[in-house]
Amino acid sequence: MTDVPHPINLFEYEQLARANLSKMAFDYYTSGAWDEITLRDNRVAFEQIKLRPRMLVDVSHINLSTSVLGKPLQLPLLIAPMAFQCLAHPEGELATAMAAALSGVGMVLSTMSTKSLEEVAEVGSKFPTSLQWFQLYIHKDKGLTRSLVERANAAGYQALCLTVDAPVLGQRERDRRNEFALPQNLQLANLSTTPGLEIYHEKGESGLFTYFSQQLNPAVTWEDLAWLQSLSPLPLVIKGILRGDDAVRAVESGAKAIVVSNHGGRQLDGAIASLNALAEIVTAVDGRVEVLLDGGIRRGTDIFKALAIGAKAVLIGRPILWGLAVGGQTGVSHVISLLRDELNVAMALSGCPQLQDIDATFLQLQH
Ligand code: FNR
Ligand code: LAC
Repeated sequence: MTDVPHPINLFEYEQLARANLSKMAFDYYTSGAWDEITLRDNRVAFEQIKLRPRMLVDVSHINLSTSVLGKPLQLPLLIAPMAFQCLAHPEGELATAMAAALSGVGMVLSTMSTKSLEEVAEVGSKFPTSLQWFQLYIHKDKGLTRSLVERANAAGYQALCLTVDAPVLGQRERDRRNEFALPQNLQLANLSTTPGLEIYHEKGESGLFTYFSQQLNPAVTWEDLAWLQSLSPLPLVIKGILRGDDAVRAVESGAKAIVVSNHGGRQLDGAIASLNALAEIVTAVDGRVEVLLDGGIRRGTDIFKALAIGAKAVLIGRPILWGLAVGGQTGVSHVISLLRDELNVAMALSGCPQLQDIDATFLQLQH
């Protein structure tokens, strides 16, 4: 990061990252599905909510620490599961895991990682309090799915994060135009022992789209969650919920946490902004499980707004990849510290020294 201007916010990181990435990698990371309406709406939803700060509160000590599923976090932030991080930096998911652990935030590792789940867990194991979850995609091959769950449990992940919004992959048109494929030197590190599981070049199509159609199981339903939970003692987190009734179903099916998410606008374009789904889900869940949110978090005030509606913590996606592309582990740590500092200032200016002080009275929802 020595010969680049020093980025002071997450938007500047994106600009810098673009210059460090191949067009195929940048397009893959940044894209949403189809017209990218949901991708934009995730940001618009945050911009439309206004704050009602409280004055003359002693804010000389701001406390950002919290916990998620019993694990302490230095701020209410986890890194969202994101595929193929070695496209951004040779250390990929290992650099992300190290930055997460050093910063005291959680990390969710994607099934589609370019470093193996064992290598990434090893990084976390050096930090007794690190929060690491494994994100699962259910393959048609049940034995393969079972082995991923067993490996995640054996490696020390503390939860299984099942992504439910991708029975098929959303259509990202730039990936289709680019005929997205993994470069020769990268592999699906969790799956590489199984022949045929590759993201290869596909004429007129994204190789990842083809992989999903061929390998992932679009027939998964709520009924399969009992089977999944029988494979390991890991608590289940369900990611990709946008409706209150689905959230209730998730709780009834044994989930211990829910991630309100539209996959960063990469799946069903036109789906509501995740922030706009949050209130209904918090009400439906009624405190029975922890509710997390991702999609469009770019500022400390965005975290504040999500917490005010009832999220326990948030996940952040793309800006982590920009940090990785610009400066590896240092870049990821810096992205996290920018958000931490912004949340700190947002809480001070709102009159909230503690995270528990942040509630819906700080929001003006109508605009
Ligand atoms: C993702 N996301 C994702 N989700 C998941 O459950 N498994 C995965 O493998 C991936 N892969 C992935 C790759 C890339 C490049 C991106 C940008 C996203 C979705 C991710 O976990 C998260 O829901 C969104 O990225 C959050 O939105 P923001 O913060 O990127 O706006
Ligand atoms: C994506 C998948 C891998 O969003 O979840 O690209």
